[in-house]
Amino acid sequence: MPKESSAPGQARILIVEDDPVNIELMKAQLGSEGYVIESVLDGEEALRRLSQTKPDLVLLDIMLPKKSGFEVCKLIKSNAEIRNTPVIMVTALNDMESRVKGIAVGADDFLTRPMDKSQLLARVKSMLRIKQLNDELTSETLASRESSEKLERQQRVLKSMSTQLMQASHLKYEFIVNMSHALRTPLNVIIGFSEMLQDELVGKLNDKQLKYVNNVHESGRELQQLITNIVDVFKIDTGKVPLETTEFSLKDSIVTAAEAMKAAVQEKKMDISVRVAPEASRICADPQKLAVILENLLSNAVKFSPRGSTVQVQAERVGDSIRLCVRDSGPGLSEVDCKRVFTEFYKVSHPEGSPSGGSGLGLAISKKLVLMHGGEIWAESKRGEGSAFIFTLPQRQKRAQW
Ligand SMILES: Nc1ncnc2c1ncn2[C@@H]1O[C@H](COP(=O)(O)OP(=O)(O)O)[C@@H](O)[C@H]1O
Ligand SMILES: [Mg+2]
Repeated sequence: MPKESSAPGQARILIVEDDPVNIELMKAQLGSEGYVIESVLDGEEALRRLSQTKPDLVLLDIMLPKKSGFEVCKLIKSNAEIRNTPVIMVTALNDMESRVKGIAVGADDFLTRPMDKSQLLARVKSMLRIKQLNDELTSETLASRESSEKLERQQRVLKSMSTQLMQASHLKYEFIVNMSHALRTPLNVIIGFSEMLQDELVGKLNDKQLKYVNNVHESGRELQQLITNIVDVFKIDTGKVPLETTEFSLKDSIVTAAEAMKAAVQEKKMDISVRVAPEASRICADPQKLAVILENLLSNAVKFSPRGSTVQVQAERVGDSIRLCVRDSGPGLSEVDCKRVFTEFYKVSHPEGSPSGGSGLGLAISKKLVLMHGGEIWAESKRGEGSAFIFTLPQRQKRAQW
């Protein structure tokens, strides 16, 4: 940014000269340009004035009382505060020795006596211009140094915050893993013994007893699923589940996932139809993760579909991706629910009589797994008209991202 004090008309010039006649002459020559001119009669006063008023330029005579012009120039150039002030030394014509000495002590330019007005003005102007550029550069350097220091400080703060966050998330992860282990043991006891009771291994149960023990067993299984889901969410979020891709048959994966629903499908006298387009028959993805996604979508579809209906699974190729769709004829979802169902712990309030229960994590996990593959997932539905859950996966994984 240009410094105003260096602009013609406002620049301040210090004349260091012991001869008042010469001072008046220079003042007269420079005055027409509107510079602010100060003068001092000896070297020591010159240094004092320089430190106090910080002029933009010094016109320095050599023969001075108390300190010579050379000494004054040397002291100016060795003082960090004022060394950028240009010094024009005034020497006698043809005085080569003084010029050489002047260069040695750091003078920026020279003027000779008798002084020619146009030469004086030209030198002063060019020195002031150089000073102005120098000031601009210095302030830019200072500003960039300041901003880079600020940036470094911010980076340090960010780094320590991210370390703290990582430690906190690691502690949280450890807590979740330990808690899940601790919960699983008593839960296995609950599930195991309730199964023994269900199977009437310890004696016959009446209807009420069977109903209650079935409730205990079902809740135990739900809790088991919830624990597994919570651990899965944390593992995925903390990047502890790598994507392990391989090429495999998509149809086989869908059929395997559908078979896992067999009990519920048979119980509700339902059907799962699978249609895979030939160009979508093979996929390069993480087979375990695809299985989790499919099982989540299929279990929801089967759970919410009416008895005797058919759940449709379709796979086709769209561009470089495979597009999979799981369609059911259940209660459907509102526009808002279509967006929110992928949020952790979100549960839709369906009309009375629709199945309830569950933790609201299955779709959230499915979404995370789809995103890991570089795909997308969404729901298309209307209340009362069934739902379609659709996701895409790139047919070939470019590189492992996790
Ligand atoms: N096919 C579907 N039809 C109707 N509602 C669904 C369907 N799939 C999911 N939902 C609703 O979305 C909510 C979240 O589903 P999900 O994340 O799978 O939960 P959960 O893990 O409990 O099965 C469920 O509570 C359910 O109400
Ligand atoms: Mg579910």
